[in-house]
Amino acid sequence: MSLLVTGLSGLVTNDPSLGAGPLGVIRDAAVVFEGAVVAWAGPASQAPAADRVHDAGGRAAIPGFVDSHAHLVFAGDRTAEFDARMSGTPYTAGGIRTTVAATRAASDAELSANVGRLVAEALRQGTTVIECKSGYGLTVEDEARSLRIAGEHTDEVTYLGAHVVPAGLDADAYVDLVTGPMLERCAPYARWVDVFCERGAFDGDQARAVLEAGAKRGLVPRVHANQLGHGPGVRLAVELGAASADHCTHLDDADVDALASGNTVATLLPGAEFSTRSPYPDARRLLDAGVTVALSTDCNPGSSFTTSMPFCVAVAVREMGMTPDEAVQAATLGGARALRRTDVGRITPGARADLVLLDAPSHVHLAYRPGVPLVTAVWQHGERVV
Ligand code: NIG
Ligand code: FE
Repeated sequence: MSLLVTGLSGLVTNDPSLGAGPLGVIRDAAVVFEGAVVAWAGPASQAPAADRVHDAGGRAAIPGFVDSHAHLVFAGDRTAEFDARMSGTPYTAGGIRTTVAATRAASDAELSANVGRLVAEALRQGTTVIECKSGYGLTVEDEARSLRIAGEHTDEVTYLGAHVVPAGLDADAYVDLVTGPMLERCAPYARWVDVFCERGAFDGDQARAVLEAGAKRGLVPRVHANQLGHGPGVRLAVELGAASADHCTHLDDADVDALASGNTVATLLPGAEFSTRSPYPDARRLLDAGVTVALSTDCNPGSSFTTSMPFCVAVAVREMGMTPDEAVQAATLGGARALRRTDVGRITPGARADLVLLDAPSHVHLAYRPGVPLVTAVWQHGERVV
C-alpha cells in the first residue's frame, strides 16, 4: 500500500541532494511512502501516483524526532525536589536514590505502564524513535528487569547500571558488580552501555572500567559527561569511540577539540539545565568547531521531566546559540547519528517512513512559537499514529 502526502509548504528532508541548504528543504513538496519506507520525496508537481492521498493543506513537515537520551523506567515522583530547587536548593546526583527506592518497590506492570505512557506522550509530540536507559534499579535483578521492560517499548536500550553508587555500598565494589555479574545478566537486553561520569557518581577510572567491560561484551559506549562540572567524561568518550557524549555543559578547549576530531556526537539536553536552573551548554561553540550536535530530552523524574523535543528545540535556539535550522536538524538527524542510525532522522528514499506534520507553514515555527502544540499528525513506519 502506498501513501502520497502532498500539499506540504516545506519538507525538511535532511538530505541536501533533495532540497535547499543542509536541511534539504523542499518547497511545495510531497512525499510517497511504500509501506513502512519512504519511496519518493520531491516537488508536489512531480509526485508519482499512490494508492491513497493525504493533503497536508500547506503545512510543513519534518522527519520524526529522534530522542537519543531518556530515562523512562522509573516509579515515584520528585515534585518536591523540583519545588525546593526553584527556591534555591541545588541539584545533586544524590536525588537519583529517591527514584531508585520507588522503582525497586514497583511491579513490572507498573513500570511498563509508566514507560508506555511516556513513549506515547513523546509520540504525540513527534518523537518516533526514543532511547531508554536503565539506572534506577542498581541491583542485578532490578537493572535486568528495567532493561527488559525498556525493550518492550523501544529497540534503543542502554545499560546504565553505573548511574550512581547505591546507598551503603563501596564505589569500587559496586563497579565490580556493574562490570561483572550485572553486566552478564544485562547485556542480552541492551545495545548500549552508559555511565554517569561525574563528581558524586563515577570518576574517570571507574567510568573507563564500566565502558570497556561493556564494550567487551558487545555494547557500544555512550557517556553522561561534564554535566554538573568539568571532568574527564568527554575526553574518555572520544578516546573510547563512544557514540555520544551527553550533556557537555562544562567544556574546556581540549574537550571541544577532542569532540571535533573524533567520531563522538555531542548530545545536548537543555531540559536538564532548564529544570535545574543551570547555565546551558554552548551549542554555538561546538557547531563552530565542527562538532556533530544532537538535541534530546533526557526525560527523567529528577533533572528533566519532559518528553517534548519541540520544547528542547525552542530552548536550544533561545538559550544555546543555535539557529532554528540547526536545532531542528540536531533533534532529528543529530539524534539518529547519536544512535548510529541511517534509517531514521531523514526523509529520503529508503528511509523509515517517520514523518511529523506541523500546524505551521515552516519548521522554524517550532522555535518561533514556543510551547504551542504544533504537531498535528505523525506517521511512524508509514502508519498514521497521531
Ligand atoms: O541525565 N545525570 C544523570 N542522570 C540524569 C538525572 C537523573 C536523576 O536526577 O534522577 C540526567 O540528568
Ligand atoms: Fe541522562
